[in-house]
Amino acid sequence: MEHEMQYRRLGASGLKISALSFGSWATFGAAAGRKEARELCALAHDRGINFFDNAETYSNGESERIMGDVLGDLRLSRDSYCVSSKVFFGSVEAPRPTQHGLSRKHIHDACEQALQRLRVDYLDLFFCHRPDPEVPMQEIVSTMDRLIRQGKVLYWGTSEWSAKEIAEAVEVARAMHFELPTMEQPQYSLLHRARVEVEYAPLYADIGLGTTIWSPLASGLLTGKYNQGVPADSRLATEGYQWLQKLVLSDDKNRIEGVVRLQAIAEELGCTSAQLAIAWCLLNPRVSSVILGATRTSQLVENLGALGVVERIDDTIKARIEACFG
Ligand SMILES: NC(=O)c1ccc[n+]([C@@H]2O[C@H](COP(=O)([O-])OP(=O)(O)OC[C@H]3O[C@@H](n4cnc5c(N)ncnc54)[C@H](OP(=O)(O)O)[C@@H]3O)[C@@H](O)[C@H]2O)c1
Repeated sequence: MEHEMQYRRLGASGLKISALSFGSWATFGAAAGRKEARELCALAHDRGINFFDNAETYSNGESERIMGDVLGDLRLSRDSYCVSSKVFFGSVEAPRPTQHGLSRKHIHDACEQALQRLRVDYLDLFFCHRPDPEVPMQEIVSTMDRLIRQGKVLYWGTSEWSAKEIAEAVEVARAMHFELPTMEQPQYSLLHRARVEVEYAPLYADIGLGTTIWSPLASGLLTGKYNQGVPADSRLATEGYQWLQKLVLSDDKNRIEGVVRLQAIAEELGCTSAQLAIAWCLLNPRVSSVILGATRTSQLVENLGALGVVERIDDTIKARIEACFG
């Protein structure tokens, strides 16, 4: 059964983005071909997803290129969706000093390149993909402010910045009358909770920070697909992404035992553990959007089903879900 998409304000901004969104890290230009990319974007848009997430570094720009081609070919009305990019890591192998980081030059160049690859005139959301201690905060904030004034970016934000770094950016922006950061893109799932729930807590009240959270399934771990090892057609076996195995399967015994417990609760509720893990993210009102990743449409269809699971989670079930991971 299809459940209606919900829309949430991106923090204190007026922009309403879909509670579930779609990103293409490790899929477009990697595990998913162009045909799958087209089917995934068409399905996502058709089911109410209005935010498509990307970054200069995903498959060295190829992910943006494919998403731009696909969204263009689908002839979607530009006012019906938002698209993002992120700047920091660069889009070439072994980037030169001017081709990565958050200098004014690289932010400028990365924005221009993302606009071209995504085939759009403006980026709805533009993130500083990591903090850059080698660039003065005023240079970063003033460059983002200028891109907004030029109409090339609508909202700027950060990804995996500490609360202290975000607060510093806000302080500079307020002092210089620059545009404040609107959103952060942190990792958030049953396995990564502290930053969103504790560290950022003061920022929600102070600046109305929005969050577009990533890896809600811990790269697929929470689906149970890694319970018996690494399947050959999975992300952790994908060429170029094996390094993730260590991160995702670290202390794998406890994690996998937790997934088995989660699967048992999901079975009781008549859903899958993927749906339950995503629905649990949606319960947090500080989450503006949960970014889904998928290599095939069957996964996206399953994950969109999380919208119908939220209402089945009462406080007791929520506590049981959280207890799965200690
Ligand atoms: N800002 C950042 O630093 C950052 C970092 C990472 C991601 N992101 C963003 O967040 C988005 C989502 O992150 P993510 O892709 O890591 O999310 P995720 O939901 O944790 O993992 C998605 C992957 O899990 C597998 N999967 C998903 N649903 C499944 C299902 N129902 N059954 C079985 N397998 C399933 C698929 O991989 P396989 O089929 O290949 O196994 C899929 O590509 C990214 O696309 C990107 O836009 C941002």
